[in-house]
Amino acid sequence: MAMAKSKTLFSIFFIPLLFSTLITARDPRFDRSLSPKSLGLRKEKLSHLHFYFHDILSGQNPTAVRVAQAAMTATSPTVFGAVMMADDPLTVGPEPNSKVIGKAQGIYASASQNDLGLLMVTTRNKGIAVLNFAFMEGKYNGSTVSLLGRNAVFSGVREMSIVGGSGVFRFARGYAQAKTFWLNTTSGDAIVEYNVYVLHY
Ligand SMILES: *[C@@H]1O[C@H](CO)[C@@H](O)[C@H](O)[C@H]1NC(C)=O
Ligand SMILES: *[C@@H]1O[C@H](CO)[C@@H](O)[C@H](O)[C@H]1NC(C)=O
Repeated sequence: MAMAKSKTLFSIFFIPLLFSTLITARDPRFDRSLSPKSLGLRKEKLSHLHFYFHDILSGQNPTAVRVAQAAMTATSPTVFGAVMMADDPLTVGPEPNSKVIGKAQGIYASASQNDLGLLMVTTRNKGIAVLNFAFMEGKYNGSTVSLLGRNAVFSGVREMSIVGGSGVFRFARGYAQAKTFWLNTTSGDAIVEYNVYVLHY
């Protein structure tokens, strides 16, 4: 009886242990727990970044170009299907010659087929933006934040997500609010004011 019991205990505790040891020996681990301090992460802080985004489609030196479209894009009132690649300067002030502090690099695309009331307008519309804000100024030089979201260009203030970052913005999360400062509805050129609120370490 006692023998049987100790055998059972043996199977319950020792055999799984043996297997897990064997499995561990065969498969080297690829994960480990770390204390945030070991990556130099101490206190999470909140930063507010304020800048102007210059999206220039016209002229000799456009900062955003259309890289793809669908057959129906040309006749769509919202240019549905147009995909733009941007390398847009970010400046301290709204003037085109204001000091450049970074670039917004990435893709935005028209992702809405109809928005009544905007039918007269043939520039960018409800779109999806996937942009990296790459900063070049001071302690932010070389750091990026990544934005992903829906940009209803003709709404007052649009909010998009900050989904990550690099450099000083590692582990970033937050949101960006965009407000059109100036728009030429003929050319589509725009200057957009951005307020970005980002939590990072
Ligand atoms: C930013 O970093 C680059 C590369 O390290 C350097 O060439 C450049 O001078 C820096 N710019 C500023 C404004 O610090
Ligand atoms: C708007 O864009 C059109 C077409 O590029 C241009 O002819 C016009 O001068 C621009 N208007 C302003 C106010 O910049």
